[in-house]
Amino acid sequence: MEVVLCDDEHEVARLAADAVEALVRARPAAVLGVATGSTPLGLYRELARRHAAGLRFDEVSAFLLDEYVGLPPRHPQSYREVVRRELAAPVGLADERLHGPDGTAADLPAECARYEAVLAAAGGIDLQVVGIGANGHVAFNEPSSSLGSRTRIKTLTPRTRADNARFFASPEEVPRHVLTQGLATVLEARHVVLLALGVAKAGAVAAAVEGPLSARCPASVLQLHPHVTVLVDPGAAASLQDADHYRQVWRDKPHWQGL
Ligand code: PGA
Repeated sequence: MEVVLCDDEHEVARLAADAVEALVRARPAAVLGVATGSTPLGLYRELARRHAAGLRFDEVSAFLLDEYVGLPPRHPQSYREVVRRELAAPVGLADERLHGPDGTAADLPAECARYEAVLAAAGGIDLQVVGIGANGHVAFNEPSSSLGSRTRIKTLTPRTRADNARFFASPEEVPRHVLTQGLATVLEARHVVLLALGVAKAGAVAAAVEGPLSARCPASVLQLHPHVTVLVDPGAAASLQDADHYRQVWRDKPHWQGL
């Protein structure tokens, strides 16, 4: 994994946007994997700014990592709606190019299989943006998730429901179930860019990057991926043991080599 110790959240957003921009310029019909939560919002604002300055997303398609089960269509906290509002609309990515699992489908297992098929038909994801939960989850793969899992229904832990309660009027409104890409699904993206901000993520980041490969920290499965970039601010980097090494690798990186 390439670990980049950024000065602040702005540098995290800028470097992530650089990676997206390089991809989209090289491959206008790129397939982006997009995450929700607070962490990628700076990246999405930066991409909107670059779109306003001329970067085109007309041919790009985007795939969600996960979705709540049971929120009505167009509910402001459904992940499809969040990504439409925060990223797709601001960068001019058409609704029909934004794909996600449908958490209101009558047959949820069939919906998970359909989503995997749509992902495969698109040729897989070129660049997948992921956040990390304070408990080490990636997408909604909570601790104890199979490292070989595919898109499926998951039950949220009380901690994740509490972490996400800030987006809802009351904690009870946070759905208990979700559809999420599995860890094996995430591993198929050609480049995974993990963003983490704030000291609340420090333990999870250290476990994911330096800890043992373990379902206790689902994000540790990224150690198996050949191309992962971890962009962290000083808070999220606070528990990394090998910070000096990451700093040196970044400083000495050949300038022609992108993320
Ligand atoms: P956050 O969520 O970006 O809102 O911290 C990340 C996650 O739970 O994966």
